[in-house]
Amino acid sequence: LGDGPLKGRHVLVTSGPTHEPIDPVRYIANRSSGAQGTALAEALRDLGARVSFVTGPASVPPPAGVDVVRVETAQEMAAAVEAALPADAAVFAAAVADWRVANAAGQKMKKDGTGALPRLDFAENPDILAGVARMGAGRPRLVVGFAAETETVEAHATAKRARKGCDWIVANDVSPGTGIMGGAENAVTLITAEGAEAWPRMAKGEVARRLAARIAQALA
Ligand code: C5P
Repeated sequence: LGDGPLKGRHVLVTSGPTHEPIDPVRYIANRSSGAQGTALAEALRDLGARVSFVTGPASVPPPAGVDVVRVETAQEMAAAVEAALPADAAVFAAAVADWRVANAAGQKMKKDGTGALPRLDFAENPDILAGVARMGAGRPRLVVGFAAETETVEAHATAKRARKGCDWIVANDVSPGTGIMGGAENAVTLITAEGAEAWPRMAKGEVARRLAARIAQALA
């Protein structure tokens, strides 16, 4: 472990998408690459933190030098987060599926030749960020959420911060045309109790380093 300002601190990071099974071979997913969460875990590691990295099936490999816990579903991610606590700070960069398929089939679903269509019923997944932000004893001192918005980013993210009960929200504009989702750059607005700070567009690695430095400051 490094010797930086986060030496001796434990930071939990969630990253990547989740996969929600429909049957043993099919699932519902989203386009999260895990790039920003992975960059953040690297930056926290580089400042000396012990990092627990709970990741869904991301398209970028997890960083070296962190404790990697691989999960598939939102429910598995929630359990892995609980098992990784306590932590000094927790950052929720994962794109967790809001819903899972409630009537997932135990065997591969098949066409029956009559043209009958399958029907999916949904159940709401646990909100992992809100759960941790609202825990009493054992709550990490700093709880950070992400918000991917496509319009009125600052207002939506400020409302989300209050609704989730977290300390900070890192909001980004993922409108089509920004190239941010799955891209190399990010333009974020950091929402804290003090207000909103719009950061210039920069590489995801640079966003990660700045965020990690702010986290170190907040825990100092
Ligand atoms: O609810 P929404 O998806 O807009 O909020 C995004 C933030 O909440 C992200 O930090 C995400 O990791 C977290 N989240 C979560 N569990 C969920 C849904 C979102 O931790 N079920």
